Amino acid sequence: MSLGALLRMWRQRALLTQEQLAERAGLNVRTVRRLENMGLLRPRATSVLLLAKALELDGAELEMLYAAARGRPAGPDEPPPADPRPWTVPRQLPADVAVPAVRERELAILMEHHSVVCVDGMAGMGKTALAVSAAHRLAPLFPDGQLFVDLHAHARATAPVDPGAALTRVLRALGVPGEHIPWHLDDRAALYRSVLAQRRILVVLDDAADEHQANPLLPAAPGCRVIITSRRRLACPGDARNLSLDDLPVPEAVALFTRLAGRERDAGTSVDVLAEVVRRCGLLPLAIRIAAARLRAHPAWDVRHLLDRLATDRLAELVAGRHSVVAALDRSYERLPAEHRQVYRLLGSVVRPVFGLDAAATLLDVTPAQARRLLDELLDAHLLQEPAPGRYRLHDLVHGHASALWLSAALGGSAEREISAFEQMAGVRLGAE
Ligand SMILES: Nc1ncnc2c1ncn2[C@@H]1O[C@H](COP(=O)(O)OP(=O)(O)OP(=O)(O)O)[C@@H](O)[C@H]1O
Ligand SMILES: [Mg+2]
Repeated sequence: MSLGALLRMWRQRALLTQEQLAERAGLNVRTVRRLENMGLLRPRATSVLLLAKALELDGAELEMLYAAARGRPAGPDEPPPADPRPWTVPRQLPADVAVPAVRERELAILMEHHSVVCVDGMAGMGKTALAVSAAHRLAPLFPDGQLFVDLHAHARATAPVDPGAALTRVLRALGVPGEHIPWHLDDRAALYRSVLAQRRILVVLDDAADEHQANPLLPAAPGCRVIITSRRRLACPGDARNLSLDDLPVPEAVALFTRLAGRERDAGTSVDVLAEVVRRCGLLPLAIRIAAARLRAHPAWDVRHLLDRLATDRLAELVAGRHSVVAALDRSYERLPAEHRQVYRLLGSVVRPVFGLDAAATLLDVTPAQARRLLDELLDAHLLQEPAPGRYRLHDLVHGHASALWLSAALGGSAEREISAFEQMAGVRLGAE
């Protein structure tokens, strides 16, 4: 059936006049008329898409419409057929920085078939690097494009991206003209799902604040895949899988450090010294990258000297250019509700960063049940770990960060509970457990 006949049939089924269809689709009525009367041989891809949406075509009908739009016999003076793909093919992935032999196990999990994978973990754990690396490997399976959306939940200068604004950006990237993007968030999300309905597209949602921000950007089509990264553990939808990133194993951490520092810089250094350097970096990829950058930036240093420096004030040492462990943790801390910020600071007062629920309840001056609820929030934000039920652990670098905040609040006299914790601080509480 010709394009014109199909359009007329579906318009009549929808009980629309040509004018009404034009209005619904946001097109000129002359365009609709000419299409139906075969006076317009080469409709624009976006016009076809808008008509399909206005006519509420299903997947199979959409395919028929595209086929008819593509299959018009070319007139004698017409230009050669355009790219038959009637939408823009986005290729938005940033460069792949992942180093071989680092996080290979997690990479393999991401490569397995899962419609949605939510990668979570503490600041600087390598979530983005992993997601981007997996996306590059998966890209050939998604010929209709790869979208990369930075949701900026922990950006330095910008607020988290509003999901409606993010949808506008991706719809534009998919070729939908700005004037056809609906105003209401639900309609925008519905158009996004319609546009992706027949596509094989890979979507990376980086640094999501929460489900509320990420969910409108989830395609529904079976041909699409999604990788979400977040510092929070998200309640992922449906058959999604969570993948929590932990500290790097020591050999992987050493491999990352030597690769980033340059082999010539660690030539002759014993593996033990290298292992100690990466341990001082808390086995955190961000810290390891910064330490390697510091070494590269100082040709006079050797690895031993770097280790000595890390042994004194490592948080101050772990800054290179715009990368900083403290700044990364600051942004996780700032995103906590006020009550949990205080809990975080108080936990910074513990001597030994491994403790039980009862000890935490005593420190926080609440019941164990209340303490569990408060600590759950920090667990969700990956500012606390739970190695065994009822046992908690602060990551080395997190402990240093929380301690500094606690000390400055106590010395600054800004918070009563910090001062009392400070006064009681004689190694008797959690540290003595
Ligand atoms: N597998 C890896 N190979 C090489 N470099 C890595 C790897 N993982 C992490 N890095 C480096 O470590 C740093 C931190 O990684 P990344 O930005 O991916 O962490 P993140 O978990 O996304 O942090 P944030 O929570 O701040 O978004 C980056 O500079 C990155 O280049
Ligand atoms: Mg990231």
